[in-house]
Amino acid sequence: MAATGIHESLWLDTFDWKQKYPKLTTDITAEICVVGAGISGLTVAYLLQKAGKKVILVEAGNIGSGETARTTAHLASALDDGFAHLKKLFGIDGLRLALQSHQEAIDFIANLTKKEKIDCDFAWLEGYLFPTTDEEAAELQKEAEVLAEVNVLKAQFKKLPIAKLSRYQSLVFAKQGQFHPLKYLAGLSKRFSSMGGEIFTNTYINEVKEKGEATILTTRDGRCIGAQYAVITTNTPFNDKVTMHTKQAAYRSYAVGLEIAKGVIPTALYWDMHQPYHYVRIYERKDQTSDILIVGGEDHKTGQDDNSEKRFLDLIQWAQTYFSNLGVCRYRWSGQIIEPVDSLAFIGLNPGDKRTFIATGDSGHGLTHGTIAGQLISDLILKRNNPWEKLYQPARKNWWAACEFAQENLNVAKQYLDTISPGEVKNSKVIAPGEGAVIRKGIKKIAVYRNKQGKLQKLSAVCPHLGCIVKWNKAETTWDCPCHGSRFNAQGEVLNGPAHTNLEKL
Ligand code: FES
Repeated sequence: MAATGIHESLWLDTFDWKQKYPKLTTDITAEICVVGAGISGLTVAYLLQKAGKKVILVEAGNIGSGETARTTAHLASALDDGFAHLKKLFGIDGLRLALQSHQEAIDFIANLTKKEKIDCDFAWLEGYLFPTTDEEAAELQKEAEVLAEVNVLKAQFKKLPIAKLSRYQSLVFAKQGQFHPLKYLAGLSKRFSSMGGEIFTNTYINEVKEKGEATILTTRDGRCIGAQYAVITTNTPFNDKVTMHTKQAAYRSYAVGLEIAKGVIPTALYWDMHQPYHYVRIYERKDQTSDILIVGGEDHKTGQDDNSEKRFLDLIQWAQTYFSNLGVCRYRWSGQIIEPVDSLAFIGLNPGDKRTFIATGDSGHGLTHGTIAGQLISDLILKRNNPWEKLYQPARKNWWAACEFAQENLNVAKQYLDTISPGEVKNSKVIAPGEGAVIRKGIKKIAVYRNKQGKLQKLSAVCPHLGCIVKWNKAETTWDCPCHGSRFNAQGEVLNGPAHTNLEKL
């Protein structure tokens, strides 16, 4: 929840979504049912409908109301996990394919906005990767060498046009981009509908089962959708109970939007090399005297080490240290990033399934990974060859990532110890209005929330996914699970999977 006078997600605030879509009220059939109306879901739905298939799109909330509205909308083919690191994991050919696929994703968005006349503020930009220490400068030199070897992404060393950060040369990438994600989704969904595609919003799917030649998707209120293929694009796949969640982890990333005088820095994308890193872009406000400087970063594992207030303040302080002519903070929000152990998204058939496809593991490049998912999954369903199939397949095993894999699962195992630890507070009397905390009662852990009027609400603190204990997130006023990133609102209703049922009311 945003502080008083500060707006949440800049995109939700600067976009007026006028189209209303119905809720699914009867059983229905289609050739393909896509679940999730973010960039992956809408791209795959658009491409398949365009190819002559009968597609329906189902979304638990509204179009773009998930993580697409909570990105900072950088369109980058310069992958932030490092070229040398990706080369080690996937080899030089794998790295080349990964970079090509992300560049083609930006090209796809640029071409589509032109072809379908989608007014979404798309702009081609340069992207600056800048070091701030000697070690980072040396590392950047090595990154440039790997890039020269792979020879698909144009980059050159240049001085950063931000005086206080220009001690070292930056690596500058051509053909990066930015846009307004919700305006883009609005255009895509309009075009999808005009071709006969159907969209149902406020329709929550909580079960996907394959039966012979069909896939049956069941809504929370018992409606059935029968389809030849299901495509699950819900950030993290709720249809997969365990396998995929051992190969990726959920992180929170934070963003603030501060007023900045027009023209102080060139409109471009900027990324530092810290761990976790900062990412910066400009949102141009027409008919206003200032623009918005969007600064993101301060990532941490969901449900672990939550101190969102401090993270927002740290971002503001960082911006104030390096940028001049800043005004007040107008926006602040956070989003969920799903980080695969080997840095590339999982796109393709869900392991063990024959007709259910997934797209997950955005790795902080959700807009390009989502666009790749749209292209790749539509090709797989249409039985067309796609050179990216093997690189992104969800069942892949990457032995080089085995160490990260082991650490990830050790971290999850540690979270289970919380089931036997004491509560966060001794009793509910110390919980202030608008706050929550986990208390222990005998062997049970209880998630207690006191609403603004002082009334207590008690929920089981056990996450319905695989039984970890949730934690209170003060800034977002949510219950977050530290194991695989499920999130629930203060009343216990699920916001982010993999859990697909609410916290139990006590
Ligand atoms: Fe897996 Fe909570 S998200 S146990």
